[in-house]
Amino acid sequence: MAGINYLRVPAQLEWGDDVFPPIVVNNGSVNSIEEAETFVKTHKTELEEKLNKNGALLFRGFPINSAETFDAFSASFDYPNFTYQESLSNAVRINFTERVFTANEAPKEVEIFLHHEMAQTPISPSKLFFFCQRAADVGGATPLCRSDKLYEALQKEDADLAAQFAKKGVKYTSTMPSSNDADSGQGRSWKDTLSVQTQSEAASKLAQLGYIWEWLADSSLRATTPTLPAVIQRNDGSYVFFNQLIAAYMGWQGVRENPSSAITFGDGSQIPREVLDLIVELSKSFTFDVDWQDNDVAIVDNYRTMHGRRAYSGTRKRQVLVAMAADG
Ligand SMILES: [Fe+2]
Repeated sequence: MAGINYLRVPAQLEWGDDVFPPIVVNNGSVNSIEEAETFVKTHKTELEEKLNKNGALLFRGFPINSAETFDAFSASFDYPNFTYQESLSNAVRINFTERVFTANEAPKEVEIFLHHEMAQTPISPSKLFFFCQRAADVGGATPLCRSDKLYEALQKEDADLAAQFAKKGVKYTSTMPSSNDADSGQGRSWKDTLSVQTQSEAASKLAQLGYIWEWLADSSLRATTPTLPAVIQRNDGSYVFFNQLIAAYMGWQGVRENPSSAITFGDGSQIPREVLDLIVELSKSFTFDVDWQDNDVAIVDNYRTMHGRRAYSGTRKRQVLVAMAADG
């Protein structure tokens, strides 16, 4: 089998030999899902090296056209599965196969802001596979942002502030409804989020995870995480701004008006609004929009790269499916 063909497009970001994201195109030799699986296995070392270093990989022109073929393609990397049921994700989704589910059922006019998947919980997937079964007529790109570059930029902008994030970590407070609300980007009920049936089961699960919580009058649950990292270090020594601050600040209800209602430093002190505005501004320089074509697949290193979803419009029903991998 021939080597890997990489496509260069003008919108790609570039820092020396670090191109973001690398785009792998079918050189014509891959004509079935079996050949796609063989392609992955044959080139696994090079693909993994790129994924680790560059933070994401986009595959274009491969014969992946259904939940089943996407399941097989993502499985060919041999990563342990990270299931949505076991996760503490707050997004409402629909499962297709054991491994594959919809990206987020939020309405098309709702933008999902940049985030590391489940960085606001103690358990996050290591890698995300996205498959565009059907692109939207207009919009609906998946922005990808390099959080290692973002942290570097924050260090240059304000070294003391960057150090505070690394030292103190962050805490998140969110309210989970008593039943699923698909109209919100984060409307998953506490029963589904925690995989429990009763309030007492919820309480013991939260206690086990180190949360503090209270029950509200409408039976929704308001919970605050233990202190979670705001910055992590990768094997190659690089630091990554691994947290949920942008999505929480920009997208969670009422948080832009009152940030400390949902996000604080790990010691409970306020994160000033100017700091959050600065982070949002800096992130723009390190973001590439994946403008989906039907049958594209992207793999995202969740520990290096954030993702989101642009709003979209038109009559075509955008369908992007996801599979997640746990640390191997
Ligand atoms: Fe996500």
